[in-house]
Amino acid sequence: MNDKFGRTIDYLRLSVTDLCNYRCAYCMAADGVPKRSHGDILSIEELAGIGSAAVRCGVRKIRLTGGEPLVRRGILTLCERLRALDGLEELTITTNGSLLGTMAADLKAAGVGRLNVSLDTLRPERFRAITRRGELRDALDGLEAAKAAGFTRTKLNVVLMGGVNDDEIADFVGLTRAEDLSVRFIELMPMGVCAAFPRERFLSAGAVLAAVPELTPVGGDGVAELYRAPGHRGTVGLIRPLTRCFCASCDRIRVTADGRLKPCLHSNAEIPLRGLHGAALEDAIRGAAYAKPERHRLIQNQHSDTTRNMFEIGG
Ligand code: GTP
Ligand code: 5AD
Ligand code: SF4
Repeated sequence: MNDKFGRTIDYLRLSVTDLCNYRCAYCMAADGVPKRSHGDILSIEELAGIGSAAVRCGVRKIRLTGGEPLVRRGILTLCERLRALDGLEELTITTNGSLLGTMAADLKAAGVGRLNVSLDTLRPERFRAITRRGELRDALDGLEAAKAAGFTRTKLNVVLMGGVNDDEIADFVGLTRAEDLSVRFIELMPMGVCAAFPRERFLSAGAVLAAVPELTPVGGDGVAELYRAPGHRGTVGLIRPLTRCFCASCDRIRVTADGRLKPCLHSNAEIPLRGLHGAALEDAIRGAAYAKPERHRLIQNQHSDTTRNMFEIGG
């Protein structure tokens, strides 16, 4: 699929739930997500149908997101169905890692190729404070289980927050010393609850290069600029939506858990997909991809144009 700016769109981020077992302070209110009725959220059947139509339109990579995708009932069945699609080259998941201890081997068997795991701190007390209900041990056990299940090239996502975890940059870089791991520092994007955070929380990812000046550039990977510390096996990535716009190379569309296609993370444009099948569904997907906005306006406006929360979109 192409958009009107000549970009090739071949990556679908499919949110399978807006629920999560954590309540990260930058993502959700302390009392969580307003409960929806089951029928508001796409069924496994509908999710598989959208994935299948997207692949027929030219999508080569699907990433399952949330909320927390591993709390979704039927997730393994969905993975098996998507994995079987002719033309899909990569099936991946972004998870908080808390359930990988019990699910990593099953996800591998269901055909998931790679994992991105969110981990914002390596300190147990801080982990509790950020996630409001998580335990660092579960996330670390989850990473171990993923390794034991045969997952490689796992990426760790660290949302960088001034005054919260920026004193841990060197510790995170240290994780790449012996492991084939990519640790990616993400600039906090002002949307949903965190839009009201004080300015000092929104740190440029340049802070990583200032904290570890020996990092040297080694190219790029998707939305991340990659660096390596001398002698380290793994890489350090910077994802900097606020200080380096990467929209010109954007290759993705998103579907929310309630079945609306978002051509851009930071735009309010949404195309409802529910109830569409066959050629009508494919036309809607192609049309939405074609109409992708050229870029977001986060940098000029210092806020996102979407009124959706991150847990509804899946990042
Ligand atoms: P890979 O397949 O490993 O390249 O994954 P990814 O980086 O596409 O996905 P992941 O879910 O790990 O996202 C990492 C971070 O990048 C999250 O904070 C996302 O919200 C952010 N992100 C992903 N895509 C976009 C995008 O199109 N625009 C912006 N501004 N941020 C994005
Ligand atoms: N800004 C940047 N990243 C965010 N994430 C959630 N909310 C934000 C935000 N406001 C991250 C999660 C996860 C990924 C999908 O998005 O931590 O790693
Ligand atoms: Fe859950 Fe991810 Fe939001 Fe944290 S950032 S509350 S892990 S959806």
